[in-house]
Amino acid sequence: TRVCLVYGGRSSEHGVSCLTAREVMSVIDTTRFDVRAIGVTPSGRWVEAAPQWPDLAPGQLPAVDESAPPVPWESVTDADVVFPLLHGPWGEDGTLQGLLDLADVRYVGAGVLASAVGMDKVFAKVVFAAAGLPQVPYVPIEPAEWPSDRDRIEARVRALGLPVFVKPSRAGSSSGVVKVDTWDELAPAIEHARSFDPKVLVEAGKIGAREVECGIVQAVDGTPQASVVGEVRVQHGAHAFYDFEAKYLDGTSANIVPAEMSTTISDRIRAYAVQAFKAIGGEGLARVDFFLDGEDLVINEINTMPGFTTSSMFPLLWEASGVTYAELVDRLLQQALA
Ligand code: DAL
Ligand code: MG
Repeated sequence: TRVCLVYGGRSSEHGVSCLTAREVMSVIDTTRFDVRAIGVTPSGRWVEAAPQWPDLAPGQLPAVDESAPPVPWESVTDADVVFPLLHGPWGEDGTLQGLLDLADVRYVGAGVLASAVGMDKVFAKVVFAAAGLPQVPYVPIEPAEWPSDRDRIEARVRALGLPVFVKPSRAGSSSGVVKVDTWDELAPAIEHARSFDPKVLVEAGKIGAREVECGIVQAVDGTPQASVVGEVRVQHGAHAFYDFEAKYLDGTSANIVPAEMSTTISDRIRAYAVQAFKAIGGEGLARVDFFLDGEDLVINEINTMPGFTTSSMFPLLWEASGVTYAELVDRLLQQALA
């Protein structure tokens, strides 16, 4: 069986994808699978490049070499199964999934619609609301509304109260996200988010809430299964929130698995995670993120291709649920081939 890993990509999460690919590649059972890795460079070229960076300094993220030999798309679509290990736009958002559907090749994870909805935070909120999932109050800003509708938007945002989080609608790993503590910071934060995506979302901040996450993997028969619940802790004072630096660069965040909480609450989180997965029409896998404040639980977002290094939350959640990293990768491939 020919497996093709596609990794890297044009999004701001390029380096995270490279780390994931390196580790997934190393555990695939090569007695059963013939593995090929294709990197997508930051500029969007598809190249033949193994996910290996022997000289990587600590705190540095890898990148696919722009000078590696180019390969045609057919070298991806020739595979029996593709593992699209890409995060963010042009990979996790349905675009690659659409190409694979056109070429009639199987792949791990969500299809076109679920990928697109999962990537677009504004759209995901609409879908989660329809599914009855609790969320924080928010204000969406469509591309054409800023700055022409600035007064109306600012009035609506002020009604949320401080602090607020300003986020690009379609990005990941907190790229472009700014925590706004005074109203003077709002317009620059919106401009910053718009440099990642012209569609922006402003959310009421959940200060003091715990960040808790649950993994979903679909069984071969299609049933979504929920992992134990984990918690992300960011070192107090190091960062204003769980931002890109804290996530990947400076070791100031920790994953606590399983999170300390009552079974009543963890069961609720797991049930909501399954509900969110079904609401977007998820397939294969996802990680669903929540804010928990006492007993008050709100969904934050769903990731259809969560970070997948051996120290990432998603595989840690499954390990604590009795599925090792290598078994998890194998299960996802089997599920895609079924
Ligand atoms: N977007 C990152 C990779 C995550 O959700 O883990
Ligand atoms: Mg998240």
